[in-house]
Amino acid sequence: MSIEQKTALITGAGQGMGLGVAHHLAAQGVQVLINDIDPEKAEAAAQAIIAAGGKALAAPFDITKTDTVLAQVKQLEDEVGGIDILINNAGNAGNNAMGQLPFKDMPPEHWDMYIGINLYGVLNCTKAVIQGMCDRGWGRIITISSEAGRVGLDINVSIYGAAKAGAAHLMRHLAREVGPYGVTANVVSLGLMDNVPEEFAGPVIKTIPARRLGTTEDVAEAVGYLTSDGASWVTGQTLPVNGGSYAI
Ligand SMILES: NC(=O)c1ccc[n+]([C@@H]2O[C@H](COP(=O)([O-])OP(=O)(O)OC[C@H]3O[C@@H](n4cnc5c(N)ncnc54)[C@H](O)[C@@H]3O)[C@@H](O)[C@H]2O)c1
Repeated sequence: MSIEQKTALITGAGQGMGLGVAHHLAAQGVQVLINDIDPEKAEAAAQAIIAAGGKALAAPFDITKTDTVLAQVKQLEDEVGGIDILINNAGNAGNNAMGQLPFKDMPPEHWDMYIGINLYGVLNCTKAVIQGMCDRGWGRIITISSEAGRVGLDINVSIYGAAKAGAAHLMRHLAREVGPYGVTANVVSLGLMDNVPEEFAGPVIKTIPARRLGTTEDVAEAVGYLTSDGASWVTGQTLPVNGGSYAI
């Protein structure tokens, strides 16, 4: 199947990294399904991609709700055909979520805010598409994680990091389970990106070997490779995209 016949579901693609990935895949001819919890953002993103000559459809729903995700993905597959590529991108690290707390100070009621989207969201969306990918004998699942899920940090992101690590480890097991069906499952682990607030980013930039924050293009290029046929022998892996930070 050529790339023009493929369909990708990208979660949280109404803005930020997910939107950049959606534009990148659409420019290659992939039909992109733009998920976001905010219907207006999903629709605006889909329209922008269509205006640029791509194939796009808004797919607004809350990825933390298992029944909703299973029903919405079934409806999408009935409408547009099977989902060949899933980009588990939605997460809460960016603009409004850096004000987290040390674990000892965080009330347990806050945990779900991070585990819901970063772990349950990935479980739900992956569950919804995996059988179809196996039946069709081709699939790509890419989970956008964070270096906070790979290394310990003292920036008050322990619950977020734990949820990201859980989702990343799901990909490793999944890769073993679905490899024989032609489906790969990988992780792109991001360092600090250029959409975080200046006061947070400023002091960190000088610690990054590349001396800059990451961009949507950096993410899109990595995801583009992992979705390609050329990456069919790469599965269960984590690709850090971090400007050289944490070279482990
Ligand atoms: N920005 C960074 O510095 C950074 C660093 C490391 C990892 N990451 C990860 O990269 C990914 C993309 O980050 P970003 O900065 O582009 O995010 P962002 O906050 O800019 O965008 C996230 C999008 O997800 C949507 N969303 C939120 N909850 C949702 C839900 N329940 N269901 C569906 N959509 C929902 C939001 O409406 C928003 O449009 C995330 O997984 C994030 O954790 C980001």
